[in-house]
Amino acid sequence: MSSTNADATAGGKRGEVNVDKVTCDFSGTRVLHETDLTVKAGEFFTLLGPSGSGKTTLLRIIAGLIDFTSGRVSIDGSDVTRLPTQQRDIGFVFQNYALFPHLTVSQNIAFGLKLRKVRGPALAKRVDEILELTELGNLRDRHPSQLSGGQQQRVALGRALAQRPRVLLLDEPLGALDRRLRQDLGSEIRRIQQESETTAIYVTHDQEEAYILSDRMGVMEAGFIRQVGAPRDVYSAPTSAFVANFLGETNTFPGEVRGQEAGATVVRVGDYAISATGQPKLAAGEACTLSARPEQIRLSVDLAAVPAGFQAVADVTVTEARFFGQTIRVRLSDANGSYLVDLDSSDSIPEAGSPAVMSIRSHSAVVLPATR
Ligand SMILES: Nc1ncnc2c1ncn2[C@@H]1O[C@H](COP(=O)(O)OP(=O)(O)O)[C@@H](O)[C@H]1O
Ligand SMILES: [Mg+2]
Repeated sequence: MSSTNADATAGGKRGEVNVDKVTCDFSGTRVLHETDLTVKAGEFFTLLGPSGSGKTTLLRIIAGLIDFTSGRVSIDGSDVTRLPTQQRDIGFVFQNYALFPHLTVSQNIAFGLKLRKVRGPALAKRVDEILELTELGNLRDRHPSQLSGGQQQRVALGRALAQRPRVLLLDEPLGALDRRLRQDLGSEIRRIQQESETTAIYVTHDQEEAYILSDRMGVMEAGFIRQVGAPRDVYSAPTSAFVANFLGETNTFPGEVRGQEAGATVVRVGDYAISATGQPKLAAGEACTLSARPEQIRLSVDLAAVPAGFQAVADVTVTEARFFGQTIRVRLSDANGSYLVDLDSSDSIPEAGSPAVMSIRSHSAVVLPATR
């Protein structure tokens, strides 16, 4: 741990966070199970998961706002487990802006600095820097009630960053905003985090938000962090059915492991064999589930028409096909269940009731433990 900390310092960035075997019980119920997490200095890290999975609890533990059962939290290599929130050098942004209604934008930003005895030109300079960073200069004399939700949230962000915290913690900060504004403010948050070189830990239940913002993310379920990685890696190589399903549409096929071959796991699905990635520990003969994203699948009229680089996986019937602008979204079914495939919008639209062969781009499907 000390070596990674040295690396972080060498890069000039601060704010590495280590969560070490943290467990949290609320009145006898375990809501966080022996959780480990390392967030690198300067990184934008997202905790993504459904409601009730423990995201806020973990964030509040890092902030020092909750007494937890066991484990340790460190920032930049020093143990802060017993350190009160005010001494942890963190900034916090919540879903509800929690601005002081009787203070102007400038005064809201200055508030924490004044508490820390920043005065005179130093105070004015820092407030100006934050107004510029958050592009709030022309609104500096307004009161919160005179601002839109998005503007209020930028003030909250500016206020949290004014004291140059080592770590910025954000709990669903876009949750109260409408969709369009969420996208705009989301990219603003990312830009501001990058420019201020502050480590950010961001909580959301929205996978698109997590994809757009994060360097890495941790997917939470039922008090566990199930998988950590770059958004693209977690999306394309989930290690559990939960993560595969939570991160977007996916198709699953019941299969059986044939064996390992040149870095791939060969899986039998019905009469077909498919080369997939993941689960190298599964032995030949073991039941498994094959998971493939809709965009990794093609449809053909028959086996001979399966394109090069794809492997047939199922004989299916088209149940519905709809034009979606950029894609044609096709639903299909066979005796094992139903499937979803996105075709290029220049492809022809298949007719409901017609038979088709589904094929998967080789090595794009992921092998998961068998469900049931
Ligand atoms: N103060 C509390 N007392 C009892 N249970 C709580 C408390 N805070 C949260 N919980 C429970 O802990 C679990 C995790 O909650 P939380 O961390 O808020 O989840 P998330 O932020 O992912 O929605 C939930 O089951 C929730 O009901
Ligand atoms: Mg929450």
